[in-house]
Order: sequence, then structure tokens, then C-alpha cells
Amino acid sequence: MRTLISFLLLLGPLTAASPAVRWIDSMKLGVLETDRSSYVLGVNDLGYLQHVYWGGKLTRPEDFAPARAAAAFAFESREGMTSEEYPAWGGMRYGEPCLRVTLADGVRDAVLKYQSHEVRGDQLRVTLRDIQTGLFADLIYRVYARHGLIARHAVIRNQTKQSVVIESAQSAVWHLPNGGDYRLSHLAGRWAGETQLVQENIAPGKKVIESRRGNTSHQANPWFAIDADGEASQERGRVWFGALAWSGNWKFVVEQTPNQQTRLTGGYNDFDFAYPLKPGEQLETPVFYAGYTEEGFGDASRRMHRFQREEILPDRAAPKVRPVLYNSWEATTFQVDEAGQKALADKAAKIGVELFVMDDGWFGARDHDRAGLGDWFVNPKKFPNGLKALIDHVNGLGMKFGLWVEPEMVNPDSDLYRQHPDWAIHFPGRPRTEGRNQLILNMARDDVKEFIFALLDKLLAENNIAFIKWDMNRHFTEPGWPQLPAPEQRKIWVKYVTNVYEIFDRLRAKHPKLEIEACSGGGGRVDLGILRRVDQVWTSDNTEAFDRLTIQDGFSYAYTPKVMMDWITDVPNMNGRSTPLKYRFLVSMMGSVGIGANLNHWSPSDFDLASRMVAYYKRIRATVQQGSLYRLSSPRTENLTANQYVSSDGRQAVLFAFLHAQQFRYNAPPVYLRGLDENALYKLTPLDEKQLAERARTVSGAYLMHRGLNFRLGGDFDSASVLIERVP
Ligand code: GLA
Repeated sequence: MRTLISFLLLLGPLTAASPAVRWIDSMKLGVLETDRSSYVLGVNDLGYLQHVYWGGKLTRPEDFAPARAAAAFAFESREGMTSEEYPAWGGMRYGEPCLRVTLADGVRDAVLKYQSHEVRGDQLRVTLRDIQTGLFADLIYRVYARHGLIARHAVIRNQTKQSVVIESAQSAVWHLPNGGDYRLSHLAGRWAGETQLVQENIAPGKKVIESRRGNTSHQANPWFAIDADGEASQERGRVWFGALAWSGNWKFVVEQTPNQQTRLTGGYNDFDFAYPLKPGEQLETPVFYAGYTEEGFGDASRRMHRFQREEILPDRAAPKVRPVLYNSWEATTFQVDEAGQKALADKAAKIGVELFVMDDGWFGARDHDRAGLGDWFVNPKKFPNGLKALIDHVNGLGMKFGLWVEPEMVNPDSDLYRQHPDWAIHFPGRPRTEGRNQLILNMARDDVKEFIFALLDKLLAENNIAFIKWDMNRHFTEPGWPQLPAPEQRKIWVKYVTNVYEIFDRLRAKHPKLEIEACSGGGGRVDLGILRRVDQVWTSDNTEAFDRLTIQDGFSYAYTPKVMMDWITDVPNMNGRSTPLKYRFLVSMMGSVGIGANLNHWSPSDFDLASRMVAYYKRIRATVQQGSLYRLSSPRTENLTANQYVSSDGRQAVLFAFLHAQQFRYNAPPVYLRGLDENALYKLTPLDEKQLAERARTVSGAYLMHRGLNFRLGGDFDSASVLIERVP
């Protein structure tokens, strides 16, 4: 009974005729509908599940036609030419498969045909079965109608009498309408240079975007957008877009077949992948979310942002704004102690900080990055009174307290490693490559998982810690799991991630007020899988404000500004560039604000400016974090970056503008606003009066959107902001 109830809860409300999902028996078609789009699949004349349509909403029954397999010729079969919803490698198929297996008897052929389907509320489950064995694939679809998104994943079940090794298990393949003129947008980067938007034409062949690093990675991010004919702008054009919810090895294959079928297949990376299933066992793939819009990249990302706030993030039931935080890392690095942190906290409180976070250095022998990771007890020399004295002080100043941890890691120079060298991921007898002088604990092992859970649970139970910043500062090497027989060891790629997820889930359940920031040397672990478990992410270790503009711009294509933590730090920073403090504040205010500067070095005028900026941010943060983002002028292509945010009720908007470099005393071009009511009046309150060239302070929506606002910006790295409030 309990199982039945939890199953029903999982499926959501049962409605007899859900508008979002239906199956038309007479045509053997499954129809998934969102507010503006339709997604149609069907069983064709050969019994294969075929993709039929994904695009603008179809409304008349006559718009639907049954699935038909494509024609064959000498070098291609009918099934191979057909756009199947979940092709396995078998028969005459040469495209990227969703499923590839080896059976114990040596058979490496799988051919999936439609077996059954079930519609429940906003979910559709289609079961495919191999034509001869008891190998099943359940394809699970869920429709988020209001957001215009569809979620897909698969469950591979071994109901044969032998063991089966899964060599590739993808979450989904997304088919575009046939044709050769598509453009791919994706996010590439590296450490301290994450989420750079890349756009390129899709050509015949395959383009692989992936992580083989054990986590999501800085180098590529599991998000994509594809637009037709490269025609889409921020406001217009057909865009198919999506993101995979997985924080381990992942892979996207963007493929244009010789027959001009364009598709994107994504899921577990099949590199070094081998997941054995005994009879009766199953493997579930990560969820792949995707949507379609005709209103360009702007609408695509606004849909993703709202979806994340309302369906993914831990506070999805009642979204809250993020607090302004202070983080000690760039100020004190490993030299943390009670007196120093208290002094910083005093100063942070004065400028309006709400959450004080002590970063690395507080535990074990952690005086540098060569020792201490793994020894999660408070360093008695730095904190003779434990953490309590500091936490009480911070709380006494009206701020919450947060703490940095990196639980998955161990320095070889640590008590934990000396006690349990076998807990680190390694191949016996082989070198253990260190990254930042550390090794990775094998979190796939349940004993290691329980140990880490228990120590974090104790830390949280014994201290008034409201927030943890959970870091992961290196990627996998030598991914052995010597305690398991060799054929089982590659499960590490999946089990590591699901065990880490489990710790997050259990900690949150046991400490419901706890908030978490995910960090992996900056933005190395940002994806919809981790965002289900954390309230925000550390965007990049690169806190230099001008570099941040492109990092944040790319980030905003996939993820909501609400989770985008951004610190104001000291200059010159990482790349030697110096920008004004106001500029740094305004860049940071386009997401969730943090301060990471050494406040001991600030002048009284810095404090005055900071207090004013934090107060301004608190006025606008609900709009920035929970409103709609319009990217008006791009840091990638223009000399001026401009972003606008409109609150969900349309009453408030805020505009940010950044001049990159002064050239020839040109005036900045007008900035045309979006998302306002043409007929309404709006009051303009510039952050600095002299920067807004317009004389009028009350103008119409039409004025703002058609005539635009003109700024007086001069000198390199000048910046401005205007608050726009609807006059009732
Ligand atoms: C990583 C993080 C930084 C900081 C350091 C501490 O690099 O991204 O923000 O926490 O670790 O060692």
C-alpha cells in the first residue's frame, strides 16, 4: 500500500483526461503539449517508436498523422532511416545509439520495439522491448506545460536470465525537423573562464560535447540550444534548448546524418562506461529537460530560469530571495582565526551583509593546500573556543553563519589518509595523481559515504551553521574501485554521483533550514542535478568584474541569476585589471551578491559606497533573482553590456549598463528596454542622476522600448543602473 501511495505521489495528480499528455489509440500517437509547443511520438508500421514532431503547438486533430517508417535503400534500412525515439545499437543502424549492450552470451545486438504505454497525469511511460530477449527500456516523459518544457529519462531493465553489461545508456535523443541548416549554441570554458557561449553551424558528422572528469566540469556544461537557419536573436526565432540533470560524466552528441536528420543525443558519457545488470536489476538515466520557443534565446532562458525556480531548486515550493553574503577566501585565504574573522564580520555587518561565510583553513592542519583535507575538526590554535565563539559573535551582529567544506577530498598529508589510504580512488600499485595536492575519496563506496554523512551531520548538529559551501577542487584520475571485481568497477562513474546526491538529500532532510552553495573550483559543478540540492552555485574563481561579464552572460543562457553567486573583490585581481568599486558592485548585482574583498583594506568612502550599493541591491534583488532577464546588449559582440530585469508582477524593472572601453569619445548607443507595458507610465530613478541623459523622470513604456534610454558613460569600465517603477 505504501509503495502504491508513493508511486502515485511520484506521478502527480491523476486526471482522467490530462490536457498535457494524451495517447491517440486510433493513430498510435503520443501527444505531449505545453503552453506553446507540441511534441509527438508514435508507433510506426514496423512497430518502432518513432519521433513525429517537436515544434509550435498543433491544435486540430487533422494536424496529426500516424508515424511512418522511412524508405530504405541498399546501404540503409527502413528502421535506420527512421528518427526513432530511443534507438538501440542493433540491426542496420549507424547513428548514435541511445542504448548499447553486451549480453553474457556474447550477443551485442539489441532492437527495441514498442511494447506498451501508460498515461498518468502529466506523465507518459512508453515501454520498449528487445525483439528477442527480456531487455526493456521504459521511456518516461513528463510535461511541464506552464514552462514549455518536457523531461525525459529512461530506465533500462534486465528481465533476461543472464547478466547484461550496459555500455551506453542515454537519457534521450532530441530530433529536429529534417534539414541541414541549424546552429548549435553551447557553453565551453575552463577553470576561471567558465560558461563562454559558443555558436557554430551544425555540419554533417558528429560534434561531441562532454565531461570525462567525474563531475559536470568547467570545460563544458550540459546545456544546449539549437536554432533554425542561425536566425534566432534574443527576441525572435525558433530555438530548441535543453539541459541534462547530471553532475558526473555526461555526453552530448550533436549529429547531422547523411540524410540530413539533425539530432542531439545526451546522457551518461559512454567513455569508460560499463554498467553490469544482473537478472532483475535496472539502471536509470539522468533526466534531460528540453523546450521549444519561437521567441528566441531570451524566451528560452527565461523559461529555463522560471522552471528552475519553480520546479528544481530546493525552495521551489515557496521561492525566497538569496541573502547578501560575505566570504573570507580572497581576504584571508588559509590564515583564518577567531579574532580576524570577528573583525571582518564586524565590518561586513555594517554594510548590510546577512550571511557571513568562513571559507577554507579552519580545520585540521590546513595552513596551506598541501595538508589537512579530510580532518574535519576545528583547528584548536586558530579557534581555541571552537567555532561557537565566532558563530555567536556573527549571530550577535544579526548575520547567519556559513562554513566551507570539501568533503569528497583528502590530502595525503592528513590523519584520514594515513588511516584509510584505500579510501582514495586509485588502481592498486599505480601512481595516484594529485590535483591541488589532493586525492578523491571514493564516495561510490557506501562505507565512505556513511562516514562523510556522519561527520557533516555532527558538524551541523553541534554548531549553528545556516549554510555550507560544498567544494570539489579537482577532477578524477585513475578511477579504480579495487574492492569490487573488475567487471563491476566502472559503476564508480554513476555510483559516486548518486551517493554524493544522497548525502545532500539526507543532510537537507535532517537539517531543513540548511542552505548549500555548490562549488567546484568555481563553476565546475553547475547543472540541473546539483541545483535540485543546492540553493546557489559559485560561478567562477575568476572574480574580475570585466571577465565576469562574459562568464555571467553565458551562465544566464542556461541558469537563473538567482543561483549565480558573485563576489565583489579587491583589485587588481587575477588578470591584473582594475575596475572601479561601483562597477564591481553592479556586475555582481546582476545575480546573487556576495562580498569577497578584504574589508580591512577598505577606506571610509569604500564603506559608504558599499552600504549604498547593498541597500540599492536589497530594493531590486527580488526583481533580479525572481524576475525576467532581458539581455539587451552583449558583452561578446558590443562595446556596451546591458541587461534588464523585470519583476514578475511587471511593477519594477532594473537596468544595468557597462561601458567596456572608451573610444573616440563616442556616446553610448541608446538602450532599448523590453518586457514593459507600452501604455503604462514608469518612474525612472538612476543610481547616479548625472548618468541618465534623459531629462524626464516619468516616461511611457513605449518611450523606454522604442526610443530607449541614453546614458552618459565615459572612460573605461564606467557603469550605470536605473530603477524603473510603474506609476500606479
Ligand atoms: C576553491 C573555491 C574557492 C575557495 C578555495 C578554497 O578554489 O572555488 O572559492 O573556496 O577553493 O581553498
